[in-house]
Formats: sequence, C-alpha cells, structure tokens
Amino acid sequence: MKKNYELPSLNEAKLRSRSSVQTQQFILDPQLVGIGLHKKYMLHTFGCQANVRDSEVMAGILESLGFTMANSDEEADLILLNTCAIRENAENKVFGQIGNLKHLKQRNPELIIGIAGCMAQEEVVINKILQSYHQVDLVFGTHNIHRLGDLVYKAMFTKEKTIEVYSKEGDIIENLPERRFGEHKAWVNIMYGCDKFCTYCIVPFTRGKERSRSIDDILDEVKDLKQRGFKEVTLLGQNVNSYGKDLDIEGGFAQLLKEVALTGIERIRFTTSHPWDFTQAMVETIASYPNIMPYIHLPVQSGNNDILKIMGRRYTVEEYLDTINRLKAAIPHVTFSTDIIVGFPNESDEQFEDTLKLYDHVGFDFAFTFIYSPRSGTPAAKFEDNISLEIKKKRLAALNERVKHFALLHNQKMVNQVVEVLVDGPSKKDPNVYSGYTPHQKLVNFKAENVKSGDIIQVLVKEAKTWFLLGEQLTNTKEAF
Ligand code: SAH
Ligand code: SF4
Ligand code: F3S
Repeated sequence: MKKNYELPSLNEAKLRSRSSVQTQQFILDPQLVGIGLHKKYMLHTFGCQANVRDSEVMAGILESLGFTMANSDEEADLILLNTCAIRENAENKVFGQIGNLKHLKQRNPELIIGIAGCMAQEEVVINKILQSYHQVDLVFGTHNIHRLGDLVYKAMFTKEKTIEVYSKEGDIIENLPERRFGEHKAWVNIMYGCDKFCTYCIVPFTRGKERSRSIDDILDEVKDLKQRGFKEVTLLGQNVNSYGKDLDIEGGFAQLLKEVALTGIERIRFTTSHPWDFTQAMVETIASYPNIMPYIHLPVQSGNNDILKIMGRRYTVEEYLDTINRLKAAIPHVTFSTDIIVGFPNESDEQFEDTLKLYDHVGFDFAFTFIYSPRSGTPAAKFEDNISLEIKKKRLAALNERVKHFALLHNQKMVNQVVEVLVDGPSKKDPNVYSGYTPHQKLVNFKAENVKSGDIIQVLVKEAKTWFLLGEQLTNTKEAF
C-alpha cells in the first residue's frame, strides 16, 4: 500500500535554521464545527508542564468542534495520549497504556485512538506503533497541534491511519482555543523549543528551536487570566533565561518578568531557568517584586565538573554555587529545588559523591532525581557506559535519602511560622481540611472554615511531615512568611 504520510526525522529536527519565526493567528475552519457533537474525548497527559499546556489547547480545539470531556476511557469516542520521550520508562508507560486500550477498540471499532506529544516526533516510535499497535488511528506531533481539527476529521471520516508529524517547528500560533484545567493557577508559555542540546536530552529534537512569543501576547494572556480571577501564573519555557534572544527586544527574560509583575497578578512563578545564563538582572527583578515567588527551580544535574562538561551543561559547580549565592544575597529566605541525573555514562563513585556533597552544601528543599536513560539520536547515547544498573539504583536510593532528609529538615523549620497559602480546595477525605501552596511552593494541609479555592489566606504551621505541612487557618492577620 502506498504510504500517505511522511515520517519525522530527528536528524532534520536537530538542524537550526536562521530564518525568523513568524506569528500566525489560529482560525477554526467553520466546516469542522460540529463534527464532535454528541461525542466525547479523553485526554491523558504525560511529561512536563509544556505538555499539560498543550493538552489544554488540544482540549480547547476539541471542544470548539463540539466534543465534550469524557469521565473515562470507556465512554470516550476519541482517546488522545499526549506523550513524553524524556526517559525510556516514560515511553514504556505510554506503550503500556496503548496496549491497555486495545480491548476498547475491539469492543468499539469506531473509537479513535491518537498519539500526540514528544514521542510522536520520534521515527522509531511511529514505526513501532505501525508494526505492533494497530489500534492507533491518529498520530500528530508537537509542531502541528493547531491542525488537530483537520486531523480528527480525517481520522473519523476516511478510516485511514492519519499520521502527520512535522520534523521542524513552524510559526508560532496565537489565539488557540483552550480549556484551562486549573481554576486559579495557569500555565503560560513564553517560548517554545530548546537550543541547549545537553548531550543526554531529547527535548531539542522533539520541541524544535527556541522561539519566543511576543511580550504583548504574553502580557495580554496574563492580564486576561487576572481579569478572569486567576491568582497564579507559571511562565513556561525549557530555558526561560533565553526568552527574547530570538526577538529584537531589550532586556530579555528580566524585562518580561518585570512587566508580568507589573500586571499585579498575585503570584508569578517560572520554570525552568538554566544555571548557565541566570543574569544579575533576573536576580534583581525577582528580588524587587513581591509577586514573583521566592522559590527557584534550578536544575544542577551533577555536582562534578567533568560530568557537567560532558553533559554539555556550560557551567561549573563553582559557577552554579555563585548563582545560588547571588540569589540568596538578594532574596531573603529564597528556596531552591533541582533536577539530578545519576549514573551518567561512566560516572565514578567519586563523581557521584561530588553530587551528594553539592546536595548537602546547598541543602535543596526538593529534587527530582533520575537514573540516566540513553535517548537514541542524542550524543550521549553513543557514549560507552561501564556502570551497572544495580550501582545506578543504589546511587539513586542514596541520593533520595538526602532529598528526604533535607525536605523534612526544611519543613521542620516552618513549624510555628505563619505562611500565606493559595487555597487549592478541600481534601477528598475531609471537607474541613483544605490544601494549598505557600510562596515557597510548600504543600500545606490545614483546617479552615469559609474558605474557597483561589483564596489566599494565612495559616499557622503546626506540624512538619517530609512532603507537606499541617496547619490551621489564622483568623487574625499576622506577618506571614
Ligand atoms: N529544560 C529543563 C528540563 C527538561 S527535562 C532544564 O533544562 O532544566 C527535565 C529533567 O529530566 C532534566 O532536568 C533532567 O534532569 C532529566 N532528564 C533529561 N534527559 C534525561 C535522560 N536522558 N535521562 C535521565 N534524565 C533526563
Ligand atoms: Fe534538555 Fe538541556 Fe534543553 Fe533542558 S536545557 S530541555 S535538559 S537540552
Ligand atoms: Fe517530556 Fe517532551 Fe516535556 S520529552 S519532559 S513532554 S518537552
């Protein structure tokens, strides 16, 4: 059979063209409106916040076609998996889930199963799906989400396998439909893609080159969210420090942060910032505006300079610590979390010890820790590796002990402090217990009366657990931490 699709290529995805990126406005084809009437969709999201935000757009497009959200796979007419390719186990989870959906397709041949997101950008994944997962009807990637309407139409009415993945990024599309999943916390993309090419990482291949949204489009989005009652925005980019480098503007991310702060929205967070180009202007901006939260996620990856070098991270441990110190000097009580990879090819015991030392030195409030996973197509996948999985697992366990130790230690320091909490809502078990987050991104479960999701209230911390705090709402206002 003649193929009616082209497979994406990671080799092509790696290339960085100089041509500047344009901005286009999304237009919904009126002929597509209604194709989802009386039909339901289910959306499963894997991976990082970029995917969560993309899923909000997918949901928005589907709802503008007439689909409504299903409560379960069983009642859905369309099931989309928005996938992550960052580690092998992330991919295995997705393949497991596609496998689980097979019986639904057998029961209901009209069901459409679609694969989207970063895995769809990988040729090997698409080949595997074509060979072994015949239940999949639709595949599209990270660069053509705006085409979802046409693609669903094709999958529904032609009954052919619909595969459309672009190897390379296209223009930035604004004005996309969306269904926000949060009621008072929102994700706001400020840029797409990544040009850092850390040697272990697949993201620059699956997300394309760095391209920034215009400052006006971002500010309009934040102002609109504020007006709709949102209390917190998290500015998203693989490396937010690079914001604006591809645009002809002054000031970059520091300037953007400042302007977002001036909108007056209650809480501003951002993720992820890279230790390499964390400028002093950024430090000063964070320090100057109380609505920029004093909590920084600053992935270090390793505490050894040789490993950092072959990871292509562009900073040394000393430079990393300098950034931490600059932030501490400018921002009272600033807290940090990080990402760490253990078992990078040929990482020695001593090199791993350096990571533990760094962890103890900084005393991070939290860390996401991973065993290195080779990603085909990346430079590190070709490195020889003499370290066994058993050793890597032991290292991960040792590191995780440190993570737990410091998490509890920092939480214990909060006991008897008053913290400001943005209320997420009541707990499922007890309607008198609510949960929410402090400016330092600490989860607090607390007793309260007459509060609702989205309120910002003061809570007295009574007890510390490793991963959360317990407290009580304060009715008299005090100076909050
Ligand atoms: N852009 C962000 C992070 C993106 S991926 C940044 O640069 O900080 C999130 C985390 O996954 C990374 O920080 C890294 O710790 C981890 N990661 C990425 N590729 C990996 C791989 N091949 N194996 C194991 N962990 C990986
Ligand atoms: Fe991956 Fe490095 Fe880019 Fe982060 S900065 S997405 S780790 S290549
Ligand atoms: Fe995963 Fe893609 Fe995010 S690989 S971590 S979903 S950018």
